[in-house]
Amino acid sequence: MKLMGISFAEFPSCPLLLCIALALCFNQVSSTTNETDKLALLAFKVGITRDPFGVLNSWNNSIGFCQWHGITCGQRHRRVTVLNLSSQELSGLISPHIGNFSFLREMRLQNNSLDHEIPPQVDNNSLVGKIPKNILGCLDLFALSISYNELTGKIPRELGSLPKLQKVNLNFNNLSGSIPFSIGNLSSLAQLSLAWNNLGGSIPQVLGHRTNLQVISLTKNRFSGKIPSSLFNLSLLISFEVSLNQIQGTLPASMGLKLPNLEKFSVHGNQLEGLIPPSISNCTKLVPSLENLYNLSKFRISDNQLGSRKPEDLSFLCSLTNSTKLHAVDIGLNKFGGVLPKCLGNLSSTLNFFYAFRSQIYGEIPEEIGNLVNLELLVLGFNQFSGVIPSNLGNLQNLVILQLSHSNLRGTIPSSLGNLTKLIQVHLQGNNFHGQIPSHLSNCRSLILLDLSYNNLSGAIPPQLFSLSSLAISLSLSDNHLTGALPIEVGNLRALTMLDISNNLLVGEIPSSLGDCSSLAILGMQGNFFHKSIPQSIRSLKGIEELDLSHNNLSGQIPEFLAVFRFLKRLNLSYNKFEGMLPCE
Ligand SMILES: *[C@@H]1O[C@H](CO)[C@@H](O)[C@H](O)[C@H]1NC(C)=O
Ligand SMILES: *[C@@H]1O[C@H](CO)[C@@H](O)[C@H](O)[C@H]1NC(C)=O
Ligand SMILES: *[C@@H]1O[C@H](CO)[C@@H](O)[C@H](O)[C@H]1NC(C)=O
Ligand SMILES: *[C@@H]1O[C@H](CO)[C@@H](O)[C@H](O)[C@H]1NC(C)=O
Ligand SMILES: *[C@@H]1O[C@H](CO)[C@@H](O)[C@H](O)[C@H]1NC(C)=O
Ligand SMILES: *[C@@H]1O[C@H](CO)[C@@H](O)[C@H](O)[C@H]1NC(C)=O
Ligand SMILES: *[C@@H]1O[C@H](CO)[C@@H](O)[C@H](O)[C@H]1NC(C)=O
Ligand SMILES: *[C@@H]1O[C@H](CO)[C@@H](O)[C@H](O)[C@H]1NC(C)=O
Ligand SMILES: *[C@@H]1O[C@H](CO)[C@@H](O)[C@H](O)[C@H]1NC(C)=O
Ligand SMILES: *[C@@H]1O[C@H](CO)[C@@H](O)[C@H](O)[C@H]1NC(C)=O
Ligand SMILES: *[C@@H]1O[C@H](CO)[C@@H](O)[C@H](O)[C@H]1NC(C)=O
Ligand SMILES: *[C@@H]1O[C@H](CO)[C@@H](O)[C@H](O)[C@H]1NC(C)=O
Repeated sequence: MKLMGISFAEFPSCPLLLCIALALCFNQVSSTTNETDKLALLAFKVGITRDPFGVLNSWNNSIGFCQWHGITCGQRHRRVTVLNLSSQELSGLISPHIGNFSFLREMRLQNNSLDHEIPPQVDNNSLVGKIPKNILGCLDLFALSISYNELTGKIPRELGSLPKLQKVNLNFNNLSGSIPFSIGNLSSLAQLSLAWNNLGGSIPQVLGHRTNLQVISLTKNRFSGKIPSSLFNLSLLISFEVSLNQIQGTLPASMGLKLPNLEKFSVHGNQLEGLIPPSISNCTKLVPSLENLYNLSKFRISDNQLGSRKPEDLSFLCSLTNSTKLHAVDIGLNKFGGVLPKCLGNLSSTLNFFYAFRSQIYGEIPEEIGNLVNLELLVLGFNQFSGVIPSNLGNLQNLVILQLSHSNLRGTIPSSLGNLTKLIQVHLQGNNFHGQIPSHLSNCRSLILLDLSYNNLSGAIPPQLFSLSSLAISLSLSDNHLTGALPIEVGNLRALTMLDISNNLLVGEIPSSLGDCSSLAILGMQGNFFHKSIPQSIRSLKGIEELDLSHNNLSGQIPEFLAVFRFLKRLNLSYNKFEGMLPCE
């Protein structure tokens, strides 16, 4: 979808004082006639390379331009005041002559209707080129919105000459260069949205002097340097988003003191360091001693260097308990140490997403987590948790992804996990779980991935597990102490792509039903005690790419059909008791 909307200020176009101040402007207004408007419209038409509905056909000499499609003229002066060509699938360049409409107050070109199906000639369905400097001519421009186009080049310095400009929205273009310092002259500026461009340099300190600013959105650019402390003086700020840049330094200790209206605060994907300043709790609508942030819905600070590996690092979570609209907490990929505080259970029951991946959190997962009944994603992997999985995790009936891998969790896998029938992915690998695999897991009828590898699980693999025909991505039970035979029910896993039962203590024959797992691409059975021959049914695994049967007691001939597996990239049959010839192919 390509959007374009440029709205200009209400009539009259050019206040006298400003016109006198700006020679160009004075020149333009005093000397223009309705002929100027007509020429500018025709110039605009020339820039349009695609007009599938033919809306610009009416722009010809047979009628006056005030009757042309999409044009509105002023009653008295008969000059163009509105140009509205929204949703017409136009493409082409924005004519620089657009600045010649002295009386224009509104231009609408947004939503050129390609949002459902982007045709192959997508390149031609967008307005490209630079922001014409003329656009910033003698107009009482109050809003400039050219988001979702393919504008390139720099933000013109002239932008700073529009004293009434309140709203700048240039999101989703390919603008480069830096934010012009002239922006500091925009005394009415309330919104600066420059997200998803190629802008760089530092965030200008002068922005902090624009005391009307409510929205600063600089997400996904290449801004570097520190966040100027002056920005934290902007008491009207509602939304502050600078994620996915290269910003460094620390958040200033006093940052929260003057931001009582902050609702959105997003800094993830930068190189920030240090602690989240406790003062942020004074942002009463929002976040780490954040007790007054009643309206906060998403708290995302992942992928930074926050935290100091200290026990109290995560105490700030307690101050989020008054944020009754909280949906997402994302603190992963940081340096938080310490334990997850029990107050986690007091977070809003609206919480859907709790993500604390790859930090250095230790201690037990608090039992209270079971209160967060709307949790859908619980991602705590790659930490140093100890203790057991709290049994009341089984209360989290809405859980879809449970990721607790690579920690020091122990105890048994609670059978209450079988109550979580919406589970799609379960990652418990790389812990110290012992005991049997609970057969109740077979109640999780939506499971597509189950990874229990690298634990100390023992006992037989419950046959019920293989009734989970939903399993499509992987079933990994490797590197445990599982015993007994591979149940013949394994043949139910017709959608499964990867089965890894390697490095256990499994015995018996390879069940011929394994041949029914027709989607298998990776099959790892090495490091067990399977014996007798490879069943002929294995021939049906036509999509197999990796097959490892090494380190078993298999015997008999190496089957000929291995030679016809077209996708086979890796085959390991070593350390067995095979005899006879290798298949010649
Ligand atoms: C727009 O104004 C500029 C400067 O006043 C002039 O050079 C140009 O020819 C005008 N464009 C049209 C299409 O009249
Ligand atoms: C010129 O505009 C008129 C009025 O909209 C239209 O009927 C006519 O077809 C147009 N002429 C051409 C050559 O497009
Ligand atoms: C432009 O102005 C001239 C003279 O002021 C007038 O005769 C003409 O009708 C106007 N054209 C339009 C399209 O309004
Ligand atoms: C702009 O034009 C479209 C269709 O051509 C119309 O639906 C819309 O109401 C117009 N908008 C304004 C503000 O005139
Ligand atoms: C965009 O245009 C389509 C059809 O032209 C319309 O259905 C839709 O409501 C428009 N969306 C906006 C945001 O204007
Ligand atoms: C874009 O339009 C130009 C000129 O109309 C044409 O030559 C080119 O092939 C088009 N590109 C695509 C991708 O359709
Ligand atoms: C954006 O501009 C850069 C150069 O400034 C260019 O390398 C890149 O291909 C452009 N991206 C798009 C999507 O046009
Ligand atoms: C800001 O405005 C003043 C006076 O209007 C001007 O002298 C100055 O150059 C402008 N600053 C920038 C950075 O444009
Ligand atoms: C913040 O504003 C106060 C006055 O309200 C001023 O004294 C201080 O210098 C400003 N801080 C920054 C970093 O701009
Ligand atoms: C919040 O602001 C008040 C007054 O400005 C201050 O006394 C208090 O210490 C601040 N709280 C925090 C946690 O910084
Ligand atoms: C929640 O808000 C109440 C009332 O403003 C306050 O007394 C309490 O300390 C806050 N709780 C937390 C945990 O911050
Ligand atoms: C959850 O699972 C446990 C153990 O399987 C069972 O005793 C309990 O009744 C289940 N609770 C609910 C709410 O289904």
